[in-house]
Amino acid sequence: MKQKVYNRIARLYDILDLPFEYGRYKPLRGMLFEGLSGTLLDAGVGTGRNFPFYPEGSKITGIDFSTAMLKRAKQRRDKLGTAVDLLEMDVMEMDFADDSFDGIISTFLFCVLDADNQQPALEELRRVCVPGGTIRILEYAISEKPFQRFIMRLWAPWVRFAYGAACDRNTEQNLDAAGLELVEIRYLYKDIIKLLLVKPKSA
Ligand SMILES: C[S@@+](CC[C@H](N)C(=O)[O-])C[C@H]1O[C@@H](n2cnc3c(N)ncnc32)[C@H](O)[C@@H]1O
Repeated sequence: MKQKVYNRIARLYDILDLPFEYGRYKPLRGMLFEGLSGTLLDAGVGTGRNFPFYPEGSKITGIDFSTAMLKRAKQRRDKLGTAVDLLEMDVMEMDFADDSFDGIISTFLFCVLDADNQQPALEELRRVCVPGGTIRILEYAISEKPFQRFIMRLWAPWVRFAYGAACDRNTEQNLDAAGLELVEIRYLYKDIIKLLLVKPKSA
């Protein structure tokens, strides 16, 4: 169960991720929130790495199904004074009313969700997103470049063991069936970190 994986790794998560956080993720996180306002959801909030980039004046909720990751997020919230409600919840079964959020962000959550969980999770995002709202999904992709691809394949067993994650999920393939429309894919770091800009399909 992925919850166990994250409860196990929570203590070490920020330390293990540090080189990637500073080398890759930090410059990208700010971009994710550009132009967003109103009620926002950070799905799979983890230890709260997105907190410094939340737009001021928005009403933000972060959810995660790992108690231990949320505990770290709460510590970071208190330290930074971030205005965010943190709730323990599974993204596939969220306790929010339909159309609750103007914008939804998820960073490296869909790398963790197995193939058969992608569509239910996307359907939930669509359900809680207002019509005309914005969904932004940041995730890994497997490189097309042979050497980088080889390195990623080499790391894959560790990534699966430590994070329950994989780099080759192709979340965009499940958008249409979940009632979502792909607006754009932007590669933000080489050809291995991509941002999916998504919106609910109009009725
Ligand atoms: C790779 S971490 C990313 C954390 C954070 N978003 C970041 O950018 O650093 C993935 C997070 O998603 C959470 N997660 C995985 N599956 C989930 C699910 N079904 N519902 C809610 N959270 C989930 C994990 O507990 C973990 O905190």
